[in-house]
Amino acid sequence: MSARVDTPRARHRILLADDEESIRQLVAATLGGEQYELGFAADGRQALALAESQHPDLVLLDVGMPVLDGFTVCRTLKQRSATEDIKVVFLSGMDREEDRVAGLAAGADGYIVKPFSPLYLLKTVRELLNQAEYHPRSPDPSSQQQFSPLEFARETIHGLARPATPGSPTLEEKAAELERSQSQLLIYAEELNQAYRELQATYFSTLQALAAAIDARDHYTYGHSQRVAAYAVEIARALGLESTAIETLRRAALLHDIGKIGVPDATLLKPGPLTPEEWATMKRHPVIGEQMIAGLKFLAEAALFIRCHHERWDGRGYPDGLQAEAIPLGARILAVADAFDAMTSTRPYRPALSLEQARAEAERGRASQFDSRVVDAFQDSIRAIEAILRREVPR
Ligand SMILES: [Fe+2]
Repeated sequence: MSARVDTPRARHRILLADDEESIRQLVAATLGGEQYELGFAADGRQALALAESQHPDLVLLDVGMPVLDGFTVCRTLKQRSATEDIKVVFLSGMDREEDRVAGLAAGADGYIVKPFSPLYLLKTVRELLNQAEYHPRSPDPSSQQQFSPLEFARETIHGLARPATPGSPTLEEKAAELERSQSQLLIYAEELNQAYRELQATYFSTLQALAAAIDARDHYTYGHSQRVAAYAVEIARALGLESTAIETLRRAALLHDIGKIGVPDATLLKPGPLTPEEWATMKRHPVIGEQMIAGLKFLAEAALFIRCHHERWDGRGYPDGLQAEAIPLGARILAVADAFDAMTSTRPYRPALSLEQARAEAERGRASQFDSRVVDAFQDSIRAIEAILRREVPR
């Protein structure tokens, strides 16, 4: 064991030895946003010198490096008492079984093959540094932003374009390196995509929870948005919409009344008729709802449906008085689903309408309040809608 006495450090120190600048960038992007202090070496001799002078907690070592190869560096570190406790992980483009065996024989604590998964690298590092139990999570988006895929590609190409000198890579080796870089970018892109999808899902669940809380403010609208979403999906299916369009509509339906957060309880829960001022406040909710999610690109289309869900086919709706086809189809579907749920729910001033009464009302609204095509689709999907009604509406 090392005789050196450790002083506690705020951050773990990691040294990366790799002659490819693009890999140094990717590792920095992967680990830099965490609590690690990073150092870099461009060849084996420099790696050894820095490991001895700075005593990092962990060294990430490329195998094929100029001056001294990674295996030699690892063996030397593990043989010297001052550095034997430093964890060593190979980050190598050599993926044959004998390469791994040679790496472990040199005393390494881990062997990761390039192109590598940034998440796997993070997991390995955390485990080796005995950090609190590792819970896989999405990469920190702020650290991801430090990594530029374009810069990565440029560095790779620059590296490959350097004029040939004795001992420099052959054309075949360069081609193989280019291929590795390409695979590395693909893995990175896939993990970034995954992180983005998770971030979207998190945003959306927060908004949905808020919308459900707004429904719950009023005993009579409890579960309203969920039911409107279920009805809207059935109508959209009957209209033959594609699955991505249906998903957009479902999201819009779940959030359609989110702007009611801007309507005071005294107005929202008022059992009697609203005064003109109260009505004006109430009518702002589609626009407030649209503004609430306006900054979220992935909800841009849903935001438009939310803005338009109180428009009428005859142009007498709000907030913009749009008419007919000028109203987005998603919003025309929401209008029917929303009205159907309102009609079949009990209100303080009237009991719930029966299914047949609500169907007759939808017919009466044909070509005035509602798009006839949407009313047709609603009637075509009435069995599925009835099943949702029986299941979801508290009696
Ligand atoms: Fe509404």
